[in-house]
Amino acid sequence: MSAPNDLKRFAYAERVIHWVAGLSFLFLLMTGLAFSHPRLFWITSLVGGGSTARFLHPWMGTLFTGSMVVMFFTWAKEMSIQDGDRAWLKSIKHYAVHDKDNVPPAGKYNGGQKLFFWSMAILGVAYIVTGIPMWMPGGFLGVGPFYGGVVNSMRLVHYLSTVFGGLLLIVHVYLGTIAYPGTLGGMLHGTVTNAWAKLHHPLWHKDQSG
Ligand code: HEM
Repeated sequence: MSAPNDLKRFAYAERVIHWVAGLSFLFLLMTGLAFSHPRLFWITSLVGGGSTARFLHPWMGTLFTGSMVVMFFTWAKEMSIQDGDRAWLKSIKHYAVHDKDNVPPAGKYNGGQKLFFWSMAILGVAYIVTGIPMWMPGGFLGVGPFYGGVVNSMRLVHYLSTVFGGLLLIVHVYLGTIAYPGTLGGMLHGTVTNAWAKLHHPLWHKDQSG
């Protein structure tokens, strides 16, 4: 699938952890959507019915949280936001209209990808912190019990952060697939072409080609 002079972008472990996070998040979005309105409850039939979905949602959330923790420690250093990334973010409107000449060259990740990483890390904390009181209203690790008002406030924050995370995911999937062909391959089989790297991540390309 990959040619001899393709560049290695993601190690096997990085890809596995990304897809555990990606697929568990999709499951959570789908079942969460089903719980959000009676008219959407039919979605639960895709995963074996209402009680199965209700049982699996928090456990899948635990898997998602675990994968996010591993992803965080794997990528946090590479994702630190530098001056070049701030300049990239300032010209994001040029990036959005594919006006490449007015976008500063990106390294392995551009400023937008780094911002996505940090946003998902923060949202991941919000999901688990607000999810636990709904899952275990009687208390968890000596904290609680959580009374109705607390559980309802948590539900609201859980819901709002899901809307935000869901919108970010749509942009992420769009950019990684339709908008920039050749990107998905890096996350599937680990490599990208030289031309792709030169076009989208010129500083990283330079670094990789010595
Ligand atoms: C389920 C559908 C998903 C698809 C199709 C997808 C696709 C991709 C692709 C192609 C890349 C590589 C980008 C590159 O090489 O520059 C990537 C990177 C990444 N993905 Fe995903 N992803 C998905 C879900 C997720 C989810 C749910 C999360 C987090 C919770 C996530 C977090 C990341 C992060 C942090 C990166 C590295 C930075 C970036 O490229 O934005 N992905 N993803």
